[in-house]
Amino acid sequence: MISDEKIFAARILAVDDNILNIQILKKILTNAGFINITTTTDPTKALSLYKEIQPDLLLLDLNMPNMDGFAIMFQLSILNPNDYLPILILSAEDESIRFKSLQSGAKDFLHKPYEHLDVLLKSRNIIEVRLLYNQIKNHNADLEQQVHDRIKEIRDTRLEVIQRLAVAAELRDAGTGRHIYRMSRYSQLLALAIGFTKEQGELLLTTAPLHDIGKIAIPDTILLKPAALDEQEFEIIKTHTTLGAKMLSGSDSVFLKMAESIAISHHEKWDGSGYPFGIKGEEIPLAGRICAVADVFDALSSARPYKKAWTFEETMTEIRYLKTTHFDPRLVEAFQDIKQDIKAVYDKN
Ligand SMILES: [Fe+2]
Ligand SMILES: [Fe+2]
Repeated sequence: MISDEKIFAARILAVDDNILNIQILKKILTNAGFINITTTTDPTKALSLYKEIQPDLLLLDLNMPNMDGFAIMFQLSILNPNDYLPILILSAEDESIRFKSLQSGAKDFLHKPYEHLDVLLKSRNIIEVRLLYNQIKNHNADLEQQVHDRIKEIRDTRLEVIQRLAVAAELRDAGTGRHIYRMSRYSQLLALAIGFTKEQGELLLTTAPLHDIGKIAIPDTILLKPAALDEQEFEIIKTHTTLGAKMLSGSDSVFLKMAESIAISHHEKWDGSGYPFGIKGEEIPLAGRICAVADVFDALSSARPYKKAWTFEETMTEIRYLKTTHFDPRLVEAFQDIKQDIKAVYDKN
């Protein structure tokens, strides 16, 4: 229900070329308690006033010079196609025009001369429907916003959980957690540079951190060995790709599928000399090829317990050098093109 207070505070717009009619209407409405009344005798101002005031009731004359009531209704229905137009026609014209008025979007019709009470009751009915309509509309907008907020929250939480999980894996590897952060951002930038959509770029940003998740299952004696690995130990390290993919496999989620594809393919090389499968060129999933560039770039340009960090330029040169052997040449080129963006992430982190 709509309270009387709200009904009487409703915004009313009256359009009639006859000043006397306007005065009478205003008096009736004011005496009844309505406090928010705008009037005009110039029908060409009706549309701009409607737009400005967004009235809860439009009292509209039909027969007016320059722009008649039908033209106004027609324009309003075009400008507000999904709105409840609160139009009450007041006309001295023949009764037959009543049907045309109702067909043209008027909610009700009053024949002049009219009873005062009739104007008030019909006005009230239209205002009530209009306010209820607005209530529902606002409520729907609120619900939409709430759903939107919830989805965002779920997405953010998912991203955070994944990043923490990935950090856990990296910490085992004597890392600091920063590698996956930078590497996933480089991956996203590179993806966008070669034409990924914003959503696809975001998907890569959130899945790339899991590329080394399989390291969780590699024994400490090998993963944390301070000396160089022998051939057998290196074979075990290589299994972090297949182990990671196994951890992420079997899901219908686009997200986990991409993470799986990255985990299995981020050590493959363009010329087929990588692992675990030794596939080459475009046989390697694109997400894996992108992450390979980002992963190696960050590994080289940051310090590890066993090596110093290469400078930004040294690392860029090395990436260029590995074009066509390790990396997809198209990606290396795109990576050079976005050098400034890469540098910004590199400098900040
Ligand atoms: Fe890896
Ligand atoms: Fe990595």
